[in-house]
Amino acid sequence: MTAVSEFKPGLEGVPATLSSISYVDGQKGILEYRGISIQQLANYSTFLETSYLLIWGKLPTKDELTEFEHEIRYHRRIKYRIRDMMKCFPETGHPMDALQTSAAALGLFYSRRALDNPQYIREAVVRLLAKIPTMVAAFQLMRKGNDPVQPRDDLDYSANFLYMLSEREPDPLAAWVFDVCLTLHAEHTINASTFSAMVTASTLTDPYAVIASAVGTLAGPLHGGANEEVLVMLEEIGAVENVAPYIDSLIAQKSKIMGFGHRVYKVKDPRATILQQLAEKLFEKFGHDQYYEIALELERVVADRLGGKGIYPNVDFYSGLVYRKLGIPADLFTPIFAIARVSGWLAHWKEQLTKNRIFRPTQIYTGSHNETYVPIDERN
Ligand code: ACO
Repeated sequence: MTAVSEFKPGLEGVPATLSSISYVDGQKGILEYRGISIQQLANYSTFLETSYLLIWGKLPTKDELTEFEHEIRYHRRIKYRIRDMMKCFPETGHPMDALQTSAAALGLFYSRRALDNPQYIREAVVRLLAKIPTMVAAFQLMRKGNDPVQPRDDLDYSANFLYMLSEREPDPLAAWVFDVCLTLHAEHTINASTFSAMVTASTLTDPYAVIASAVGTLAGPLHGGANEEVLVMLEEIGAVENVAPYIDSLIAQKSKIMGFGHRVYKVKDPRATILQQLAEKLFEKFGHDQYYEIALELERVVADRLGGKGIYPNVDFYSGLVYRKLGIPADLFTPIFAIARVSGWLAHWKEQLTKNRIFRPTQIYTGSHNETYVPIDERN
C-alpha cells in the first residue's frame, strides 16, 4: 500500500519518465534542448531546425533540413472540410478551443495508428507542424467574417504564419523575432501539457489525439494561458506609477501575479531574458509605448517584494508584450504557444513510443467503506 507520506500534490519532484529531450536547472537558470543551450538555439537556429533537433534527436544536415522544410511547406494547406467545419465554430469561442477541436479533427482524416511505421510517424510530425499554424490563422480570419488566407509557399514558416494572419508580408525583423519566440517555447521538460501528451500517447492512440489533449491542457491560466492574462494585467495597470500599488494589493489579497513564478525556476527564466531582449529590439524599431515601461517597473517591483521567495518573470511575462507589438490579438497568444510546443509534444510522443508503458498511477483512497444504498425517497 502507498504511504500517505509518499503522496506529492501536483507530483512535484516525482520523475515521470526518463528523457533525453530537454534539461532545466531551475537554480542556475539553464535550459538545454538535446544538450544545446537555449541561448545558442535562439541566436543561431530556426524554429524548424530546432524542431528537427527535438524530434529526431540531432541537428539536421543541410539536405535533411531542406527536405524537412520542403515537406512542411507542402503540407501547410488544410482540407476544405476542416475549413468548413471551422466555419461553424462560434466566433465568440476561444481560439484554443477551436484549435483543440481542429487538431483532433485531423485524426478523422489521417489516423491509421500505424505507430510502428516510421513513414506514418514522419507524416504525422510534418502534418501537425505544418497544419496547426494554418488552423490558428484560419480561425482568426473566419471569426472576423473573412475567408482564410492560403499559405504562401515562398515564405518561411514564421513569415508565412504572420502573413496568413494579416495577408501582408511581415517585416523581416518581426518574422525573425516571432521565429525565435517559437524556438523559446518549443520544449520544456515534463510540464503539465507535455505530461498530458505523454499520458495520452501511452495508450497508443493516434498523434492527433495526443496533440489535442496537450492543447486542452495548455489552455489553462496556470500554464499557457498566463501570457494572455499578463497583457490584461498590463492594460489594467495602465501607467508606470500604478505598478507598485497594484502589485501590493495583489500580494495583500494573496493573488498570483501572472507571468511570474515557476515550479522549476527559482531565478529569472532564461527564456524571459531572451524575450526581453527581443522586445527591446522590436520597441526600438517600431516605437515605444507605455506597456514596455510598465513591464520593466513590474519586474522591478515584483523582484523587490517576492524575489526572496524565488519569484521572477517566467516565459509568459515578456512574450505577451512581444506578440502585442507584432499586432497579434491577446487571445492568440496561447495558440501561438501551442504552435511552438507541438514540436516538444511530438518529441515526447516519439520518445514515449520507444519505451512505452501505459501510465497508470495509484491513489490514496480517502473515502468511506461499507456504506448502505439509501432509496431516493428516503434521503434527506
Ligand atoms: N505571484 C505571487 N505569488 C506567487 C506567484 C505569483 N505569480 N507564484 C508563486 N507565488 C507564491 C505562492 O503564493 C506561494 O507562497 P506561500 O508559500 O507564501 O504560500 C509560493 O510562491 C509558492 O507558490 P506555489 O503556487 O506553491 O508554486 P507552484 O510551483 O505550485 O506554482 C506556478 C508555479 C503555478 C507557475 C505559479 O508560480 C503561478 O501560478 N504563477 C502565475 C501563473 C503563470 O505565470 N503561469 C505560467 C507558468 S510558465 C508556463 O506554464 C509556461
